[in-house]
Amino acid sequence: MNRIRSDIAAMQAYVPGFQPSPEEHFIKLNTNENPYPPSPKVVAAIQAEAARGLQLYPDARSRAAREAAGRVYGFDPEWIIMANGSDEVLNNLIRCCAAEGEQVGYLHPSYSYYATLARIQGAMPEPVLLDADLQPSMPLENFAGKIFFLTNPNAPFGFAFSLDFIDNLAGKLKGMLVIDEAYADFAGISACELVRRHENLVVTRTFSKSYSLAGMRIGLAIAQPEIIAALDKIRDHYNLDRLAQVAAAAALEDQETLRTNVKRICATRDWFATELRALGYEVLPSHTNFLFCTPPRRDGERICRELFARHILVRHFSDPALCHGLRISIGSREDMETTLAALRELQ
Ligand SMILES: Cc1ncc(COP(=O)(O)O)c(C=O)c1O
Repeated sequence: MNRIRSDIAAMQAYVPGFQPSPEEHFIKLNTNENPYPPSPKVVAAIQAEAARGLQLYPDARSRAAREAAGRVYGFDPEWIIMANGSDEVLNNLIRCCAAEGEQVGYLHPSYSYYATLARIQGAMPEPVLLDADLQPSMPLENFAGKIFFLTNPNAPFGFAFSLDFIDNLAGKLKGMLVIDEAYADFAGISACELVRRHENLVVTRTFSKSYSLAGMRIGLAIAQPEIIAALDKIRDHYNLDRLAQVAAAAALEDQETLRTNVKRICATRDWFATELRALGYEVLPSHTNFLFCTPPRRDGERICRELFARHILVRHFSDPALCHGLRISIGSREDMETTLAALRELQ
């Protein structure tokens, strides 16, 4: 008897970026993490919570974190849900909206995990290709499925759709429109305010990038209270542990650290893009903490391999739309200088 669902048995697993152990001393530019540590207030809050003892369950509604997020984004807590990484809320949005066989749309290339999450639910991944000008190959308002994910800014290309584009699309789309704003703090624009006007709009955020908390697994979503109530019904009841809850609240309350780190990363990104162009690389303009670039000989895989041999990790994708290039996360200025020197040698 086959106890495992046949579609799950046949499914390809999502492959996250390689995480070497710290003793291997890699320069790590492959998963868009933040090179700087989180706010010292986050570390202090985690230590204080651990010292209080972890024998009791956490608050099932993550109330303090929701309230802190509400103050930062300007919403009442019932418009916000906290998540165990934004991946959790992306998954739960599909579980909420798309039944077996129903379509889950997203741009391709963008975050490939949407397709895996859709398949796990037995829903149908429905990619809409980006054309050579990085525009959707069909008007997105024609998408007839239950839920569409728009990664904004886009990953791995780094460009951003305007708020007018999103406003217009949300008004026309029949299904749910999810704006995955994993990188929005680096772009300085957000569709959050638009959720007040559109009952089919959800904005998701992660703490893994701009807040330097990839190791904690914290995300959130903002939407009208009916959607949040539905998401609340289906999440794990204790989805954020006690440490994650205090870390989230402390990170949100220290916007100064967020702004300082984002500013430093954007400055390093712009300098690194200029240097790459001087080496003959094509570099897409980026509103994120990474660059998508194409080496002069369009041999992204070779460069990735050779960098790996020098203990520098960048991301190469085998997808035909991406295989010529590389996605390079922006690390500290020092790490990017080392990377640039290696790229010069590999010309
Ligand atoms: C576009 C996008 N969305 C979501 C995520 C997942 O974020 P989290 O770490 O909060 O699960 C990532 C992570 O790389 C991402 O690139």
